This record gives sequence, structure tokens and C-alpha cells, in this order.
Amino acid sequence: MNIPNYGEAKSRDKRDYKRVDFIFDKKIKDKYKNKKFFLKTYGCQMNEHDSENIEALLCSLGFSKVSDYNDADVIILNTCSIRENAHNKAFGMLGRIKHLKSIKKDLIVGICGCMAQEESVVEEIVNKYKFVNFVVGTHNLYQLPNILDKAILEERQQIEVFSREKDLVEGMPVVRSNSYKAYVNIIYGCDKFCTYCIVPYTRGKERSRLKEDILKEIDGLIKDGYKEVTLLGQNVNAYGKDLYEDYTLANLLEDIAKKDIPRIRFMTSHPWDFTDKMIEVIGKYKNIMPSVHLPVQSGSDRILKLMGRRYTRGEYLELFNKIKKAKPNMAISTDIIVGFPGEEEEDFKDTLDLVKECKYDNAFTFIFSKREGTPACKLKDNTSLEEKEERLQRLNNVVNKYFLENNKKLVGKEVLVLTEGISEKKNMYFGYSEENKLVNFSSLKDIEVGSIVKVEITSAKTWSLDGKEVE
Ligand code: SAH
Ligand code: SF4
Ligand code: F3S
Repeated sequence: MNIPNYGEAKSRDKRDYKRVDFIFDKKIKDKYKNKKFFLKTYGCQMNEHDSENIEALLCSLGFSKVSDYNDADVIILNTCSIRENAHNKAFGMLGRIKHLKSIKKDLIVGICGCMAQEESVVEEIVNKYKFVNFVVGTHNLYQLPNILDKAILEERQQIEVFSREKDLVEGMPVVRSNSYKAYVNIIYGCDKFCTYCIVPYTRGKERSRLKEDILKEIDGLIKDGYKEVTLLGQNVNAYGKDLYEDYTLANLLEDIAKKDIPRIRFMTSHPWDFTDKMIEVIGKYKNIMPSVHLPVQSGSDRILKLMGRRYTRGEYLELFNKIKKAKPNMAISTDIIVGFPGEEEEDFKDTLDLVKECKYDNAFTFIFSKREGTPACKLKDNTSLEEKEERLQRLNNVVNKYFLENNKKLVGKEVLVLTEGISEKKNMYFGYSEENKLVNFSSLKDIEVGSIVKVEITSAKTWSLDGKEVE
């Protein structure tokens, strides 16, 4: 049994990790033919991409996927720890599974993802959720096939979580959920330690993949006909710093942009290390999409400092304006937390003012959630939940107003849309524009999913645009 430990998870040192190739244990290949698995994913794109690996690993074991957990022989929850409600959702699901397990004794239940890295969660699973057969952490996901095999063979609960990162494993199999848009990890972990955030503990220190491995993966995707790649990392801007003297995200973006791939996106960028060179590269290449996610978290300098965000409101705005000018149709989205401990009405008004200045194209807004083990968890918090909810509502009213305003500016204009499918309700196609806006559109022709088409926008809503295909 390997139990996670917060103390160890927090430590950062120069210890080198090894890049190793994934090896699948041939002895267990196709061992579970005719067995079925159900996989539920919570959290961010990184988890979604991990689930694409999990699916492939289970398929190598012979399992096939089902969409109803009642039909499964194995249920896996790929969990998220970012806020209490993500945590509660996973435990709620475990409650339902417990009921199923009482009638289906052979059912195997496994937990992976960020909650598996939390000391308190694993303790709870060991003590109160004894029906859970195995827990695998984020740092040793590649061991899932053998751990699952052991969990099926042995009665004993298998808890295998490394508190810290070990090897950087390349070449894990993947079953991509989409045949024209793909996620590509470029950096794992996060060293920023924003005071409210659990991610540096659950995902470990920043580790970049070798540029050769990334470029090779992208070449493979191009060969397979992919139209869009999204480079993933908790802070993609830190790419390369742990590996190279002089090769950064700007270099990587440029090397990818020179390839024959129509759309490149990247997320998430921390404002702190967004360089001028990156802005220059974004401006220079047409296939780098005019859409940047630039989380601000708060508009108050006092709160930004308490959050450990490493920039002031003024520095953020300066960067925001530079990025905005990089391309004529640049769309910027953000994340905002309200009700951080000590946030006063004045601080909140600073956030509202900043939003009015930035007029974001999209924003994800959250109420601060205490995460055990993080510094903000210990800060004094005098604001009631009611007041925080009211602030969130006020904030949402303002951000929504700008979403609509920005969308309205596109009416009458032409945008390029990567077609994703047909929306059943209206018998219209849908897809995302270069600016990452959802577009529903009609066409007189049959449009192939995965093709990029020109659409004239005819009307705007808060979260989507309507249009018709032109040409
Ligand atoms: N690495 C990304 C963020 C990943 S988490 C970045 O720094 O931009 C996504 C968002 O969740 C964060 O931007 C933040 O707005 C929110 N978040 C993180 N921890 C939170 C917490 N404890 N309570 C509420 N929201 C939180
Ligand atoms: Fe969390 Fe901050 Fe790292 Fe983002 S940059 S993952 S908010 S610690
Ligand atoms: Fe959640 Fe972990 Fe992603 S905490 S947001 S799944 S990195």
C-alpha cells in the first residue's frame, strides 16, 4: 500500500525525473475480453485527456466501454479536487455505486485522478469506503492495468499512490474522443502555489515533455487528419524552463505553427510568465488561434497578493492589452474567484471594474472553496456564503452582458467554424469559431464533421452565435 502524503507532495527539489517509455505487460493483454467498464471523468481538460489514456489501457486489457454504470464490471471515477463540489460529486457517485455493489458483488470500483492524491480522501476511502477496490494516483496512472488486475485477483483493497512524481512516461496508448480535435500534454504539474489551489499538491512539480516527443505526437495527429491541437498544461507558459536553456513555449508554438495543422490552441496561461516573444509568435502565425485564456482571479491588488498570484492589477491589464492587440479578432477569456478570505465589498468592486475594462469574451466564475492543505484554508474568512453567492450573481450579470455585447459585434461578419456535428433540435450544424465561440449554422450542402467552413453570423446570443454557411 502506498498512501499519499501532503508534506511530501508539497516538496520541490532539483530531483531529476526520468523519461521512460510506457511498457504494457503482455501477460495481461486481452485478459478481460467480454468484460465491460464505465468511466466517469470530473475536472479539467487534463483529466479528460488522462481519461483518453485510461480508456486505451482498459481496452488493451480487453475491456469494452459502456455508458451506463449499471452494466459495468469495472467502474472507474477519474476525480477532481479543485473545489468542494467536485469532491462531493465523486463521493455522491460512490454512494450510488455502494448500493449497486451490494447487489453485484463482483463489481470492481476504482478511483484515480486528483482526489487520489489527497491524503484525507484516501484515508476516508480506507476507513469508510472499504468497498472501493483500488486507488491509483496521478503520478502512476501508467500502472493502472496491473493494479486493476491485482484488484480483480485479490480481495484486499489496493492503494497505490506516489506522493511525488517519479518517471515521465511517454507513449501511453490513447483512445481519442474526437477525430479532428486533440489534446496534447506539453507540461505536467504546477509550481505556482497560488494560495487557494490544490493542483501543485495533486499534480506535482512542473515537468516538461521533450520537444521531440511533442512534435512527433503532433506529426502523428496531422497524418491522421486532425485539424486542431490544444496544448495542455496547468501553466503552459512555464514550458521548457525545467529542460532547456533557451527553448520556451514561444519556440514550441512557432515550431508547431510551421507545420500543416490548421488550428493550434493552448491552455492555461498564467499571466506571470506570458512573454512578449509569445505574443509576437501568436500574432505572426495564422494557425495559432485568436483565443487566449488568461485567468485573472481578482481585480484587487490586495486580494491578488493574498492569493499569491505574482502580478498586480496594473500588470495584468498591461499584458491583457498587449495580447488583445496581437490579432485583430483576439478573444480573451478568464477565471475569477469571488469570496476569497478577506475579500471586502471594495475588493469585489475592483473585480467588477476590471471586468468592465476587459469585457471578456468568456469567464468562468467560482466561489472560493477551502482546500485542505493549502495556505488559504487557514485564512480568516468573515464573509457569509450568502454574501458570496450574491457577489457571484452580480459578477455573472456583468460578465454575461459582455459576452452578449462581444457576440453582437460579430453579426454580419464571417467567421471560420470547425464543424463538430448536427444539433438535433434545430437541424443545424454546430462548431467552434477561431475565437472559440460556439456557432450554430445552416447550410444548403452536406457538411462533413471535422471540416472548416465559412459562416456568416446572423444573430447573437449570450453563449452562442447563429449563422449560415457561405460559398
Ligand atoms: N492552472 C490554471 C487553473 C486551473 S484550476 C490557472 O492557473 O489558470 C481552474 C480555476 O479554478 C482557477 O483558475 C481558479 O479560478 C479556480 N479555482 C482553483 N482553486 C479554487 C478554489 N480553491 N476555490 C475556487 N476556485 C478555485
Ligand atoms: Fe493552481 Fe495557480 Fe497552478 Fe493554476 S497556476 S494550477 S491556479 S497553483
Ligand atoms: Fe481538477 Fe486536478 Fe484538473 S484538481 S481541475 S482534475 S488538475
